[in-house]
Amino acid sequence: MTGFMGSGKSTVAPRLARGLGYKALDLDEEIVQHTGLSIPALFELYGEERFREEEKNLLRRLTEQTGIVVSLGGGAVMDPSNLAWCKQKGTLVYLKGSAAFLASRLASSRQDRPLLHDENGSLLPPGLLLDRVSDLLTQRSAIYEQAHITVTIDAASISSVVARIQGALRQ
Ligand code: S3P
Repeated sequence: MTGFMGSGKSTVAPRLARGLGYKALDLDEEIVQHTGLSIPALFELYGEERFREEEKNLLRRLTEQTGIVVSLGGGAVMDPSNLAWCKQKGTLVYLKGSAAFLASRLASSRQDRPLLHDENGSLLPPGLLLDRVSDLLTQRSAIYEQAHITVTIDAASISSVVARIQGALRQ
């Protein structure tokens, strides 16, 4: 499961997994468990590069298992070898949202996303948050669009997103 921060990957993945009789795994949670550090602490102490290394290694380790639905961090497939890996190992599903929708969701969600923080480690205020989300999404969209399945999420309920993924998987 891929898509921008705030697209609902971590909510959709367990529901989809339940329907399939699979196990749900969250790559960011695995990184936190493995390093013993929160994502902001990992970025702050060792930098984004180290975070991306952990992400790459754990992605490979996790996907040694079968029968899993993995919610990836929003930047994981920006590494071309990670994108290729995900597409080869499984079915890559993109939860697609508009910048405006994502930014409004992110404004009131978890505060543990360093790419959306100001220099003091606080979530950017709404106007700057929308600019940041728009910039990043513009850079990333063409990569996300390479997923096997794309489901639009703006104004859609979780259950309809899950149902549409299930339908696409059946096809
Ligand atoms: C990131 C997304 C985050 C997390 C990290 C970087 C990104 O995960 O992996 O903060 O580069 O988009 P979520 O997409 O689950 O928020």
